[in-house]
This record gives sequence, C-alpha cells and structure tokens, in this order.
Amino acid sequence: MTKLAIMGAMEEEIEPLLAHFGEAKITEYAHNKYYEVTYNGLDIVIAYSKIGKVFASLTASTMIQKFGCDTLLFSGVAGGINPALKIGDLIIADKLCQHDLDITAFGHPHGFVPGGKILIETTKQLREVAVEVANENNINVIEGTIATGDQFVHSEERKDFIQKTFNADALEMEGASVAVVCDSLNIPFFILRAISDTADGGADIDFDEFLKSSAKNSADYLVKIINKL
Ligand code: ADE
Repeated sequence: MTKLAIMGAMEEEIEPLLAHFGEAKITEYAHNKYYEVTYNGLDIVIAYSKIGKVFASLTASTMIQKFGCDTLLFSGVAGGINPALKIGDLIIADKLCQHDLDITAFGHPHGFVPGGKILIETTKQLREVAVEVANENNINVIEGTIATGDQFVHSEERKDFIQKTFNADALEMEGASVAVVCDSLNIPFFILRAISDTADGGADIDFDEFLKSSAKNSADYLVKIINKL
C-alpha cells in the first residue's frame, strides 16, 4: 500500500479522523476538500463526499484517479436492520448492494443492471485485519450485508422490503457506490459503519441524536485498524 483513501459521507463522519491525524494539507477539487496527512509512514487522503451514491462515486474515483490512492477505507453511520444491531454497534460490510436500483419492469431482479452484479464483495484481507483488531481490543463487531440507496429509510415497510429482498443487515446511502468504483478499478476496499438508528419511524430523531457518537465509534475503530496496516 502506498496511499490510503479514507472516506466518510458527512463532515461528522471524518471529523474524529481529522482530529486524530492532526495538521493536513488541504486541496480543493470538484467542489470538495481533500485532506492529506502522513501517519505512521502512511500517506493518507481523507474526504467526506456529501450524502448519496453520486457524490460518493465522485469522491472515491477522485481519490483513486487524481490522488493515486491504492486502498480505500470508508467510515460512517448506518441504519440497523438486523435486530442484533443496537445503536452504536459496528458492522463491517462483507458485501453490498443497491436497494433502489430497479429495472424489474424488464424482468431483472432488484439491484441488478446488465453488466453489473447484485452483490459486491469487499476485500477479504482488510476484513481479516479488522476482525483481528476487534478480537485484540474486545470490540464487538459483526460482518454482514449492507444495502445502499439514495433514500433516508424511515419506515418499517421500506426496511422490511430491503431485509427480505437482499437479506441486508444494515442500510446507508453510499457504500455500494464506493464498492462499484473500487471493484471496477481493482482497488482493495473496506466499508465500516456504526448504527445511528434503526431505519423505522423515529429514525430521523435517532439519527440526529446519535450521528456524532456513532460516527466516532466507527472512526475510533478504523484508527485501530489503520494502526495495524
Ligand atoms: N444512514 C444512517 N441511517 C440511515 C437511514 N435510516 N437511511 C439511510 N441511510 C442511513
């Protein structure tokens, strides 16, 4: 690894990382800010994309193609689907899908377009390092499927559809688009989330209350993983 990309979607998701890594060189590009630091001999570029799949794809592509990053780590929050996941708990994506990608009108399954795949697997080697770090530090984390879509999910009905259709454990708004970019460009990648809400009625209230604390849980664990890379 020569250059590491670390992404979040929202400022709150990268703020604890920027605080940890200290002074950064800031480059403005494509209506965004990219923070470059050196840490433990690693060159790291940090950015938050803004919310949603389009902005996340742009940022991931920029970090890889403009800044030359060769590994990408994502840290942030998610809505929990698996009842074992409580607010603040951590989930590592072993695979991701796009729950709102829909050309079922033409007989295709949900989440599929020709030339793509419904589920994209994350890099096994990075997951293994993360699990080792969790075991060493008594951190409770599960591995599972994360479903991504350009929707803040706040209803039992939509949550149930995503659970039943994709067998997803958590949902958010960026991960699968980052997975498409990294998978297409052959870049090892890792998606970590901490639960901020349970994606049902009241999710908006919980999200506002727990965004910062859950984002910090995710970022603190990610730093421990980076220390091991
Ligand atoms: N990220 C965190 N909570 C979410 C939710 N309920 N829907 C979509 N993305 C989220």
